[in-house]
Amino acid sequence: MKGRASLVGAGPGDPELLTLKAARLIAEADVVLYDKLVGAEVLALARPGARLVDVGKRCGRHSMQQEAINRLILTHARAGRHVVRLKGGDPFVFGRGGEELESLREAGVPVEVVPGITTALAVGAALQVPLTHRGVSRSLTMLTAHNHADALPEHDWAALARGGTLAVYMGVRTLPLLTARLLAAGMAAATPAAAVQNATLPHEQRLFGTLGDIAAQVTAGGGDGPTLVLIGEVVGMARRDALGDTALHEAA
Ligand SMILES: C[S@@+](CC[C@H](N)C(=O)[O-])C[C@H]1O[C@@H](n2cnc3c(N)ncnc32)[C@H](O)[C@@H]1O
Repeated sequence: MKGRASLVGAGPGDPELLTLKAARLIAEADVVLYDKLVGAEVLALARPGARLVDVGKRCGRHSMQQEAINRLILTHARAGRHVVRLKGGDPFVFGRGGEELESLREAGVPVEVVPGITTALAVGAALQVPLTHRGVSRSLTMLTAHNHADALPEHDWAALARGGTLAVYMGVRTLPLLTARLLAAGMAAATPAAAVQNATLPHEQRLFGTLGDIAAQVTAGGGDGPTLVLIGEVVGMARRDALGDTALHEAA
């Protein structure tokens, strides 16, 4: 039997945010290689006897190198197995899905890609913040605040500061620097901002602030769960009554 691979987005955490297609592929797979952020309820969809392999990637911390993961997918697929490579959010948004895709294509292994709900979309929905909104924001930029050297990557700060909604991934460590760059590029300190940790999970925690103070709030809040930061005028539309302006460590 010829093996194959599916690069599947698992969404941000809430199992109900999985697509029907993702659920079906997980249930059919012989092998599921999953990241740290994929929860037990999602993995429970795998059939009895399927091999579940934690490849341990989370937020730039890699317990298995990307090349080793690529090789593992190939090894299983070449052995005739259906491999589901299950990734948090969407495989093609800061998910290194492209590298896995290239490796599979080069090896001639049939591969399909199944999108997942990326965190920015889930956070917008959770906070009831429309990421674009007529008269308020005409664009959504998803950016990483973390590069290979564990530092803030270069961006066109002037363009980012001009408006639109910014969704910052992997930004906890470099947030003070990132917000300083935006302020220096002319973005108003009063621009609304929010940080959501463990979005869509039962222990989700939210912080609301401004461009001027969100970094300090996140630092004070502590916690090492995955966190997405939204910056832009639309964040002023957030529904706050669920948890209120609560520091990360105080939130329910
Ligand atoms: C390596 S990136 C993976 C992004 C993922 N492919 C996606 O589409 O959402 C990891 C970053 O995604 C964000 N993230 C992923 N899951 C999250 C969650 N449940 N809550 C908040 N942020 C999350 C955080 O910014 C985290 O540092």
